[in-house]
Amino acid sequence: MTARLSGKVALISGGATGMGGASSLLFAKEGAKVGIVDINEEAGLAMVAEIKAAGGEAVFAKADVSDPDQVEAAVDAVSRAFGPINVLFNHAGTIVIKPFLETTLEEWDWLMAVNVRSMFLVTKAVLPQMIGAGGGSIICTSSISAELATPNEVLYDTTKGACHMFARAIAVEYRDQNIRCNAVCPGFIATPHGHREVELLTKYGVDVSDAAIAAQQGRMGLPEDVAKAALFLASEDSAFVSGQRLFVDNGFSAM
Ligand SMILES: NC(=O)c1ccc[n+]([C@@H]2O[C@H](COP(=O)([O-])OP(=O)(O)OC[C@H]3O[C@@H](n4cnc5c(N)ncnc54)[C@H](O)[C@@H]3O)[C@@H](O)[C@H]2O)c1
Repeated sequence: MTARLSGKVALISGGATGMGGASSLLFAKEGAKVGIVDINEEAGLAMVAEIKAAGGEAVFAKADVSDPDQVEAAVDAVSRAFGPINVLFNHAGTIVIKPFLETTLEEWDWLMAVNVRSMFLVTKAVLPQMIGAGGGSIICTSSISAELATPNEVLYDTTKGACHMFARAIAVEYRDQNIRCNAVCPGFIATPHGHREVELLTKYGVDVSDAAIAAQQGRMGLPEDVAKAALFLASEDSAFVSGQRLFVDNGFSAM
C-alpha cells in the first residue's frame, strides 16, 4: 500500500508534543516531509530526531506562532528545506482557565494571539505557495469547546469558536483554487495541555474526574486518536471533504 502522504510537504504548528507531536510522527511515517514549527525547541528537535531515526524526513523551525516575523521566517525555512507546503496543520494553541471575572485584558489578547491570530498568520504565509503548487489541505485544531462551554473557560471557548469559523471561511473562499480546509475538534485528550486542563478545572470545582470523563467520552483520548483523524483530513482520502468540523470525542458532543 502506498503511503497516504507520499509527495506531500506538511507544516505542523505545535508539532513538537501532544497531538501535534503524534501527527508529526504519523505524517512522516505516511511519507510526508514534515516541518515542525513550535516554540519548544528542545521537544521539536527531539521529535525531528525520532522521525529521522524511523527513516522519515523532518526539519524544525522555532517560532512563536503569534509573532508575524517569526512565522514568516519559519514558513520560509520549511519551504526552503522541502519545497512548497501542501499540507498545513494549524495545531499550536494553549488555554487560560479561571473564573471570567478574574481574567485580564492581557490574557484575552494573549490567548487570542496564540490560538487565533496564529491561524491568520501561518495560513496567510503558507496559502500563496499552496495555491501555486496546485492546491492543498489545511487542518485547524478547534475543540469540543467551540460548541460545548465549560465553566472557567470563557476565553478559551471563544478562541476555539473563532478557529471553527476560520476553517469554514477559508474553505469557502479558496475551494475553487483546490484548497480544502477543515477543523478537527478533540475532546479531552491526554497531552500536557489536556492534563493541565483537568488539573485546573478540578481546582475550580468542575467535575472532570476519570468517572465524569468516562461518562462523557468513554475514556481519555490519546494523541494518536487525533493524529489519525488529522491524517484523514490531510490525505486524498478526504478529497471531497471541506469546511467541516470533525469531532474526535467518542460521542461526547453527540449527547
Ligand atoms: N488536549 C486536549 O484535551 C485538547 C482538546 C481540544 C483541543 N485541544 C487543542 O490542542 C492544542 C494543544 O495541543 P495538545 O493538546 O496537543 O498539547 P501540547 O500542549 O502538548 O501541545 C501544544 C504545542 O503547541 C506549542 N505551542 C504553544 N504555544 C505556542 C506558540 N505561541 N508558538 C508556537 N508553538 C506553541 C507547544 O510548545 C506544544 O508543543 C490547542 O490548540 C488546544 O486548543 C486540546
